[in-house]
Amino acid sequence: MKSARAVAHTNIALVKYWGKRDSSPADLNLPAVGSLSLTLDRLRSETTVCPAGHDSFTLNQEPASGEVAGKVLRQLDRVWQAAGHAGPRPPCEVVSRNFLPTAAGLASSASGFAALTLAAAAAFDHDPGRPALSALARRGSGSAARSLWGGFVRLERGVAADGSDCRAYPLHPQAHWDVRLLIVHTERGPKAIGSTAGMQRSRDTSPYYGPWVDTSEADLAAAEAALAARDLAVLGDIVEHSCFKMHACMMASRPPIVYWRGATLDVVHAVWRLRAEGLQGYVTSDAGPHVKVLCLSGQADDLAARLRDVPGVHAVDLVGPGPDPTVEVLA
Ligand code: PMV
Repeated sequence: MKSARAVAHTNIALVKYWGKRDSSPADLNLPAVGSLSLTLDRLRSETTVCPAGHDSFTLNQEPASGEVAGKVLRQLDRVWQAAGHAGPRPPCEVVSRNFLPTAAGLASSASGFAALTLAAAAAFDHDPGRPALSALARRGSGSAARSLWGGFVRLERGVAADGSDCRAYPLHPQAHWDVRLLIVHTERGPKAIGSTAGMQRSRDTSPYYGPWVDTSEADLAAAEAALAARDLAVLGDIVEHSCFKMHACMMASRPPIVYWRGATLDVVHAVWRLRAEGLQGYVTSDAGPHVKVLCLSGQADDLAARLRDVPGVHAVDLVGPGPDPTVEVLA
């Protein structure tokens, strides 16, 4: 094997994914719905995979163990298996750093598993092309499949039982549209539940889960058309609908899954108030209390300044569309 390094940027879903396919063996990690995302500038993971005497994983300059390291090593095994090499996987040293805003509570799993998959594939001499690597990254984390491209990306739900058609593809490059995403950090409490367990609980107990799954393809088609037309009002309406529908499905689970805090809703109402005043922002939020606001670059600074004044807001980061990942084989 060789040594290789990859850099992949994180992404935020504009049309959300929540739930795994009923028939999905856990290891394939097949989503029940497709999703559409924006890859983000600056916010990224940088990962190196090198041959070593024994397996190790260092995350943000600290040695990692337990489940965190276990997930990384399982992903290395999958890439090694996919590469079709005879014999056991050689031991590897994996070193990863996340460049995400401090204390953001932004999931690093999308950029992290994308960078890991790309670095491991290069280290193991496996080059099946980005679509197949996207399907492989998906097995580490569903959202990671989308970080294989910059710009605007769609993750296809797929129908094949082996998950081979469940992979992302690029819709538009980074330069397609000069939008901004404001990441509005609000107060944090204990995290309600991890995404995998939360998705299973929603599927098993939420009466809204079926309708959530059944209506997602229509959201995706409408969002794709609005994105192609660069129509923020139409896209923003779908972005908010997908977000609130996902959270309604979560909240109707038993026991309820509530990721929002008081400040989350205060920010949502502030965005709606500002929109009525002409600052055109649209909210989305994931498995945490922060709010992300989609807007045009020309209004991003004004919107950020106004949202920093909302009580309970700790910080507002501005990010634009991000680039494709990069991979290099090290000498
Ligand atoms: O792939 P995961 O386990 O990071 O789940 C992603 C779930 C959401 O962030 C809530 C929605 C999405 O599509 O990214």
